[in-house]
Amino acid sequence: MLYIGRQFLGGELLPSLCPQRTVLIADVALKMLYAEKLAERLKADLLCIPSGEMAKTFETRSLIEQFLLRGGYGRDTTMVALGGGTTTDVVGFVASTYLRGVPLVLVPTTLLGMVDAAIGGKTAINTEFGKNLLGTFYQPKAIVVDLDLLKTLPEAEKRNGLAEIFKMGLIARPDFFELEFEELVRASIQQKIAIVEQDPQEKGLRRILNFGHTIGHALETISHYQMPHGLCVAMGCVIESHLSMCLGYLSKGDFKRIHSLYEPFQLPAQYNRKDLLAAMGTDKKRAEGHIRFVLIDQIGRAIPFEGHYCRPVAVEELEKTLDWMEATYH
Ligand SMILES: NC(=O)c1ccc[n+]([C@@H]2O[C@H](COP(=O)([O-])OP(=O)(O)OC[C@H]3O[C@@H](n4cnc5c(N)ncnc54)[C@H](O)[C@@H]3O)[C@@H](O)[C@H]2O)c1
Repeated sequence: MLYIGRQFLGGELLPSLCPQRTVLIADVALKMLYAEKLAERLKADLLCIPSGEMAKTFETRSLIEQFLLRGGYGRDTTMVALGGGTTTDVVGFVASTYLRGVPLVLVPTTLLGMVDAAIGGKTAINTEFGKNLLGTFYQPKAIVVDLDLLKTLPEAEKRNGLAEIFKMGLIARPDFFELEFEELVRASIQQKIAIVEQDPQEKGLRRILNFGHTIGHALETISHYQMPHGLCVAMGCVIESHLSMCLGYLSKGDFKRIHSLYEPFQLPAQYNRKDLLAAMGTDKKRAEGHIRFVLIDQIGRAIPFEGHYCRPVAVEELEKTLDWMEATYH
């Protein structure tokens, strides 16, 4: 069940979703801001976990599992995750395997969490071999999107969420670039749900959500996760739009518009061509020696490629785009 609104943290909704024993697992940065008060309201035990990608480790996973096992939490326990995408990813992962799965309520607190990470049932932790390589598909019992939580979110974090919203615009909704902020958030969530409902296990259509991520994940890997996810995705979207143009699918005019839409992101240069190609070698979308890319043929449309929604691209076909990238982001 999805709830989008305001003032949910102080209202009756969350207690009604947690009828029995409840454990609240929160990003430690939100402890004093929201978590302590919410734990009191839910009569829940509170466990704080590290902020950022440090949350998505074996260590945090184990910290949560030990907490649950030591506390003797049973199958009727509701786990509530309060935090951004890193928190909801790791808490979701544990909730999906603890006692073979316990009820999960997600309360995303970042824009990226609200429009993307908390929607669609994917959970994950990172390993030294790459990002999100361990994970499950697990649908939460409820997702509670409280837009008031964005008031304390730093601007840079809002830009991360905006990058995912823009991506959605590029692959599925040309009208996105005209909408007001709150409308945009709601529409983005609904659009992701619509895609996931058609393809919950990522067998085809859902792959379009990976637009910008082949390059984006590689950038994240080579920056050792120092570069924010959203910025990597924003850069990935521009670069993969360029690739769509070079391969003859996207018009020059559309690419120009996309490039200018991303100007506010102030995309940084933090890559090395060789490392980037090597990092793409571990991308999950790689097949038969080629790197597979989601491509667009206009703003608002990912190309279906007979239901595969991605296309293998040889390294040589990437050259022009990598040249352009080097000339543009230096
Ligand atoms: N499961 C999925 O489908 C999916 C989809 C997209 C992204 N993700 C994952 O999401 C993660 C990124 O999520 P994120 O961008 O939300 O990062 P995040 O969880 O690290 O949060 C970003 C920062 O904002 C702070 N913060 C969070 N909420 C706040 C608030 N309301 N007020 C003030 N500060 C706040 C956090 O402490 C942190 O420092 C990545 O690991 C990515 O892989 C998952």
